[in-house]
Amino acid sequence: MAKLWGGRFTGATDPLMHEFNQSLSYDQRMYDADIRGSIAYSAGLVKAGILTEEECKSIHDGLGKVLQEWTSGTFKIEATDEDIHTANERRLNELIGPVAGKLHTGRSRNDQVATDMRLWLIDESAKIRQALRDLIDVLVNRAEKEIDHILPGYTHLQRAQPIRWSHFLLSHTANLVSDLSRLDSSLPRLSVMPLGSGAMAGNPFAIPREQIAEQLGFQSLSLNSMQGVSDRDFIAEFLFTTTLAMVHISRFAEDLIIYSSAEFGFVSLSDAYSTGSSIMPQKKNPDSLELLRGKSGRTFGQMAGFLMTLKGIPSTYNKDLQEDKEPLFDAAETIHRCLLIFQGVIATLTIHPEKMRAALTDDLLATDLAEYLVRKGTPFRETHHISGSAVRLAEEGKTSLSKLTLEQLQTLSPKFSEDVKEVFSFETSVERRDVPGGTSKRAVHEQVAKIRALVK
Ligand code: ARG
Repeated sequence: MAKLWGGRFTGATDPLMHEFNQSLSYDQRMYDADIRGSIAYSAGLVKAGILTEEECKSIHDGLGKVLQEWTSGTFKIEATDEDIHTANERRLNELIGPVAGKLHTGRSRNDQVATDMRLWLIDESAKIRQALRDLIDVLVNRAEKEIDHILPGYTHLQRAQPIRWSHFLLSHTANLVSDLSRLDSSLPRLSVMPLGSGAMAGNPFAIPREQIAEQLGFQSLSLNSMQGVSDRDFIAEFLFTTTLAMVHISRFAEDLIIYSSAEFGFVSLSDAYSTGSSIMPQKKNPDSLELLRGKSGRTFGQMAGFLMTLKGIPSTYNKDLQEDKEPLFDAAETIHRCLLIFQGVIATLTIHPEKMRAALTDDLLATDLAEYLVRKGTPFRETHHISGSAVRLAEEGKTSLSKLTLEQLQTLSPKFSEDVKEVFSFETSVERRDVPGGTSKRAVHEQVAKIRALVK
């Protein structure tokens, strides 16, 4: 079978060049989008007076068979097939004869590929958003159930203040909620149909673009044919959005890796998401979390590489644009798998509240001690200093903050009285942080409710 574009050629393509040029090995996953696009386009060709109803019907039947061959795994790839578009058209031609040659009237692979990729990504992005919603759901349910457990919160990886375990979970969940919103809000820019742009100058047969777009479920038409065939912003945006989501997953994974070490011991991973060592029998390694962390580097690389590819390309279509596919496919597959794995990790994680408790030391209440004096009318800058002196006093006396006697405290400020004892409760500390977004029980429940409403 000759190449679709072979008319002006006399020489054959170098075999290595054919392999270099082809994209079918990876773009065949768009077979369904390509066929849907052709079905809608041929209906448009009837309206434009290029195809009769019978010709269109024969094309639709033929495309139905091609689709069936792909789904059943019986589609036979020929050595000359270059990409999914040429492969489908070649096969259609074999199945229904020369009328297949009318399908591409006024269309170019340039507007075709841009349309196919958008159709493919619209479906893929729906799957990814669903996986993200499921992960958020698992996190929020855990946060609700485990609200009573308190552990240290960290800054600089140094114990800072007591927080609810649920507050920690929701801190990471909040990032995922914004990832979901970014994916959702990119839809109007993704759901734009370039078909009808031709190679670059537009379609000469008055193809009914609105009708085709409606049939394919696109929200709008590309504004300009030159931009329509070359715009890959929807891919760049998707790569950024998924990279940022992967960065969030990576940071969350890093916290859990640290918390699962014997030194912290706050959580244990289920066997289902851990692996052992080939030499050290005692080891149980958090490979799932490490891979989640590692794969964020991979998606970042896809994004950076693709933006670099884009930056030097002249107007409209250039073959460089074929390099949009592997980064996109890889990033979409990577994030989807990561979301599923992470959901499993979170759903099966065991927590150790007694270890969390044991890590709560009195010094975590030094801020509360300063705030106690604030409530007695001392300016915060002074109370910060006084509380700091109390920490030092405890350290020097090899005791803890709560064991300092009232007399000792009163040497630092006369405002200390009997009720200072109440400061030394981790429950009181978290309950005092009762603003929206705080770590009190009410504030955490409120976050749970807000997140649920946002991801519905
Ligand atoms: N496989 C090509 C791609 O992915 C399809 C478009 C080819 N267009 C062309 N003018 N050679 O970009």
